Amino acid sequence: MAGFLFCLLALDISTALSAVLLPRQGDPTWQDTTLPAAQRADALLPQLSWEEKIAQMGGIRRLLGANATFNRTAWEALYPLQHGILSYGSQLNQAQDVLPYANMVREEQLNSSKVPWITVTDSVNSIYVPGGTLFPATLSLSTSWNLPLYEEIVASIRDENMALGTHWVLSPELDIAKEPRNGRVGEMYGEDVYLVGEFAAQYVKTMQERDEGGHMKVATTVKHFLYGQGSGGVNTASMDGGVNHLYNDLAIPYIRVLKEKPASIMISYSSVDRIPMSMNTALIQDMLRSEMGFTGLIMSDAMGILHLYTESNVASSYKDAAIKALRAGLQLELAPGQPACFPYLVNSSSDQEIVDLVNEAARQHLIIKFDTAMFDLPLPTMENLNRTLRAPQHLDVNRRASREAIVLLSNDGFLPQANFSQVALIGPFGDIIDPGSYAPTTSANPEYGRTLRGSLEARMGAGNVRYVKGVDIRTTSPNDTAGIQEAVAVAKAAGVAIVSLGSLSVYSQDAAVNQRTDGEFYSHASLAFPGNQQQLLDAVLDTGVPTILVLNGGQAFVLNNSTMRCNAILHQFLGGEFSADALVEIITGQVNPSGKLTISMPQADGAFPIYYDFLPSDNVGGGGSDPTDSTVCAGDWNLPCLNRDGAPMAFGYGLSYTTFDISGPQVTNSNSSGGSISIFCTITNTGNVAGKEVVQVYFRQQYSDIELPNKRLVRFQKVELQPGEARQVKFVIDKADLGYYNNAKYQVDSGHYTFWVGSSSRMADLKNATISL
Ligand SMILES: *[C@@H]1O[C@H](CO)[C@@H](O)[C@H](O)[C@H]1NC(C)=O
Ligand SMILES: *[C@@H]1O[C@H](CO)[C@@H](O)[C@H](O)[C@H]1NC(C)=O
Ligand SMILES: *[C@@H]1O[C@H](CO)[C@@H](O)[C@H](O)[C@H]1NC(C)=O
Ligand SMILES: *[C@@H]1O[C@H](CO)[C@@H](O)[C@H](O)[C@H]1NC(C)=O
Ligand SMILES: *[C@@H]1O[C@H](CO)[C@@H](O)[C@H](O)[C@H]1NC(C)=O
Ligand SMILES: *[C@@H]1O[C@H](CO)[C@@H](O)[C@H](O)[C@H]1NC(C)=O
Ligand SMILES: *[C@@H]1O[C@H](CO)[C@@H](O)[C@H](O)[C@H]1NC(C)=O
Ligand SMILES: *[C@@H]1O[C@H](CO)[C@@H](O)[C@H](O)[C@H]1NC(C)=O
Ligand SMILES: *[C@@H]1O[C@H](CO)[C@@H](O)[C@H](O)[C@H]1NC(C)=O
Ligand SMILES: *[C@@H]1O[C@H](CO)[C@@H](O)[C@H](O)[C@H]1NC(C)=O
Ligand SMILES: *[C@@H]1O[C@H](CO)[C@@H](O)[C@H](O)[C@H]1NC(C)=O
Repeated sequence: MAGFLFCLLALDISTALSAVLLPRQGDPTWQDTTLPAAQRADALLPQLSWEEKIAQMGGIRRLLGANATFNRTAWEALYPLQHGILSYGSQLNQAQDVLPYANMVREEQLNSSKVPWITVTDSVNSIYVPGGTLFPATLSLSTSWNLPLYEEIVASIRDENMALGTHWVLSPELDIAKEPRNGRVGEMYGEDVYLVGEFAAQYVKTMQERDEGGHMKVATTVKHFLYGQGSGGVNTASMDGGVNHLYNDLAIPYIRVLKEKPASIMISYSSVDRIPMSMNTALIQDMLRSEMGFTGLIMSDAMGILHLYTESNVASSYKDAAIKALRAGLQLELAPGQPACFPYLVNSSSDQEIVDLVNEAARQHLIIKFDTAMFDLPLPTMENLNRTLRAPQHLDVNRRASREAIVLLSNDGFLPQANFSQVALIGPFGDIIDPGSYAPTTSANPEYGRTLRGSLEARMGAGNVRYVKGVDIRTTSPNDTAGIQEAVAVAKAAGVAIVSLGSLSVYSQDAAVNQRTDGEFYSHASLAFPGNQQQLLDAVLDTGVPTILVLNGGQAFVLNNSTMRCNAILHQFLGGEFSADALVEIITGQVNPSGKLTISMPQADGAFPIYYDFLPSDNVGGGGSDPTDSTVCAGDWNLPCLNRDGAPMAFGYGLSYTTFDISGPQVTNSNSSGGSISIFCTITNTGNVAGKEVVQVYFRQQYSDIELPNKRLVRFQKVELQPGEARQVKFVIDKADLGYYNNAKYQVDSGHYTFWVGSSSRMADLKNATISL
């Protein structure tokens, strides 16, 4: 979804301007709040005018401009054929400033007997606008591997959304983060289909929880169907992929999440096998509707329909694009800019095919609006908004979440350090927060929370923290030499350095916007640190002063041999308002880190694929006959000599201040209870401090009809253990979960299956058992 500012341009569609509705004349049962949403929708639909039905299929995405300004002229130009969904516009207007305008336009709508607006907004790690609790971003939260905690997080964001009157969000994102060059990886849950499916299912279940009246609290949008690896890591670029790839690598999380009945699905920008998804009838109708059984609403991505005409050249006009998208199954157009395409359907009321499709689309809208009680709920109040936003329990959840959303990547024993007398804080991320481009905050002056500098100063006293920025994030300039020299001097003086580097993802109106290197519109041509940040780090390391590296950004970085000289490395990805406090708690040992990577860290810029669940035939990079021996170069990667199976920081990896032993698994085939297997192992905290470990289960069958990944995650559980404590962990797996799609048909084979249990996807961290099914 693009969130950038477009000027509002009125379409020449003045014929439809007079769509003032009389009070409804027909079947009154749509007003009966005891009836199911679909029944109320069926009763009301015939009472909508043609223009009103078209108008449901679009909306106004910019209620307010900067500084909470409402432009009535621009609003009225769009209104006649775009009044289904409402979005708040500028991401930096305070929630308390937005509410009166949102309520005003809702009340106008109700006063004129129109179908009420439903607000549809992004809601990635907070509500859409400032004033709510700002959590770490999706990728950071997935590194917690903690689904019960995630449930609490989503419930907090949901309740804050409802207090603002938002009942439809544009999450969760099911894109698989297998392409490290994609700038949007920070919005994703990670590279593994099972983990993504479990987190996204938790999101949908919690957002769409039913209230006491049986209404859905907040409708969700699962996106972007179907997307994984846009070529070259470019967000809107095309994808290859045959049916086995689409089903086994991309569709699996959707199939999981559809069990939670998400209200809507957003179609991706990609062309798949040359057919743009916004007109891809085969994948939308045959796959998503027929095979996968999705019955909710299908929407475009922002300007996705327009792109059929303006980018892909597969439609010859806006109207042609609208018709192609409608025929493929799209029912709502997100159009932050203008023109929008669906309003061009207004002159097609004599085309029965189009009329039928528009009727079905309008019906889907009414179902969501009845289901979320848009016709029945009172307007939200300022009192309740103030009471709900940043409620103490939400802040408490956020603190707990932030502590688990940081991964300790390396540590030579230097951490934890209970008390530095002073510290040099170095680097362009030392005094900003890097929250992701859909976060409603500014990087340099966040309204809530602290930067790492602020958190360190709060802990150690301002006089004991010497901050030097050193270099800018993306631009290199002659003064870098002076900045680096200054950093070296303060590092030597303090005797210990914390260097905070990375890649910036912020909203397009942020003051640091010209330093952006990550997020939507920022693909990574290189996985090194942007600008002169590596030179800054190298210079600090060359002093020999003990150095802790803190990484920022919704992405993986190549950590080269120079970087690995750091005494400890922490990755926080995209932080929330308490992430810096949590970093200080981890550095000082008040909190034991427990995050685990959900994307693999690359060994080199070009050694793709980097994800852990590569196919057996992909493993020809190196390592010879022993895949764990990275010193033997016997494959394609001789310079440098790399081993695909030997990535030092692969999916699932992350360190703790204690040590754990996970026993070899016992696998039993408990056929009696309807075809499931049970896996037992014992985990022991063998270190000196309490800690949390994620027990991970991977599997692979020996022989299959199509090539399957070398291993794939099938279960995980996070456990907390005191020093010396041991616990048995049990996993039950339906045999039906062990299958795969072969030419779009799901099959589960008999034969030998190996299960690995351990603390990461690295072979060295896993123990196995094989059974016959
Ligand atoms: C918003 O208000 C601030 C402070 O009054 C002003 O500096 C800024 O230019 C305004 N922004 C816009 C887009 O009007
Ligand atoms: C309001 O919108 C209209 C129509 O798009 C535009 O011409 C006008 O300049 C806008 N007014 C302001 C104050 O931005
Ligand atoms: C809606 O109608 C009520 C009752 O007539 C009126 O008091 C209120 O001002 C109207 N609201 C708007 C936004 O026009
Ligand atoms: C619909 O038809 C009218 C009358 O021919 C024309 O003025 C208008 O531009 C058309 N609208 C669209 C969106 O094509
Ligand atoms: C809500 O909070 C805002 C901003 O903090 C404050 O100005 C306003 O008075 C509060 N309103 C109510 C009704 O509590
Ligand atoms: C804290 O600092 C003091 C004095 O610098 C030192 O003696 C003590 O060992 C330190 N404590 C820890 C836990 O490192
Ligand atoms: C280097 O100089 C430029 C231009 O004077 C300034 O914008 C930038 O912030 C400086 N960089 C650092 C790291 O001080
Ligand atoms: C990194 O260092 C190791 C030895 O410590 C060496 O084997 C390896 O080749 C180095 N990697 C690169 C890319 O230089
Ligand atoms: C580390 O990475 C930087 C930037 O990619 C490069 O210039 C430098 O040579 C690398 N150093 C080592 C030791 O690999
Ligand atoms: C498992 O159960 C199925 C039917 O329920 C049966 O056909 C099969 O032989 C059983 N397998 C084992 C190993 O007991
Ligand atoms: C299973 O573990 C044994 C013992 O550690 C090891 O020799 C074997 O290679 C492993 N098998 C697989 C498939 O990982």
